[in-house]
Amino acid sequence: MENYKSLLLANKAWVKEKLSLQNDYFENLSKGQQPQFLWVGCSDSRVPAEEVTGTTPGEIFVHRNIANLVVHTDLNVQSVLFYAIEVLKVKDVIVCGHYGCGGVRAAMTQQHFGIMDQWLRNIKDVYHMHRGEIDAAGDEEGRVNKLVELSVLEQLHNIMKTRVLQRAWKMEQRPTLHGWVFGLQDGLLRDLYRFDPSSSIAEEFRYDDESLKKPL
Ligand code: CO
Repeated sequence: MENYKSLLLANKAWVKEKLSLQNDYFENLSKGQQPQFLWVGCSDSRVPAEEVTGTTPGEIFVHRNIANLVVHTDLNVQSVLFYAIEVLKVKDVIVCGHYGCGGVRAAMTQQHFGIMDQWLRNIKDVYHMHRGEIDAAGDEEGRVNKLVELSVLEQLHNIMKTRVLQRAWKMEQRPTLHGWVFGLQDGLLRDLYRFDPSSSIAEEFRYDDESLKKPL
């Protein structure tokens, strides 16, 4: 059997299992979503948001891209942030990186990767900013993993620079931002960084109260 066909078969088995446990499962699922969490993770196939967090359909709004970046010119991630924060009104935003990230590793080399160079440039900027600390983190694996952590922190800062986040913090005192890193070696999530609505934002990026009260 061709490999892709096993996915369709597995889907049928999944539907059967869900219905055997709860016969109105899909009827309920189709009514709408009220997820409390936004997950920004890496596209890496080994870090499935729902599976590593024990969550089920409807619980997490998910955005994944290479190396879990929040880039201010990326309409995709910015639209996700807007929808999750302003419309779904999530309580927590989680940026989750993972040790041994191939995107981060690639950005630390001097090789080119075609169109991905533009994307990886965002990681190179973080690498450049923290070069001393990263070089002091030991061997290649240690240096990659240090940049994985520092990049997650930088992405949280990138979210804090947006008006959508600043407005939600001002008007509704949510969401809390979390920076996590997943360990492929042990399956554990490290809870490394946290910012809540009382966290300070650098003045250069801060919108004034009047601007924050205006609709988005
Ligand atoms: Co990755």
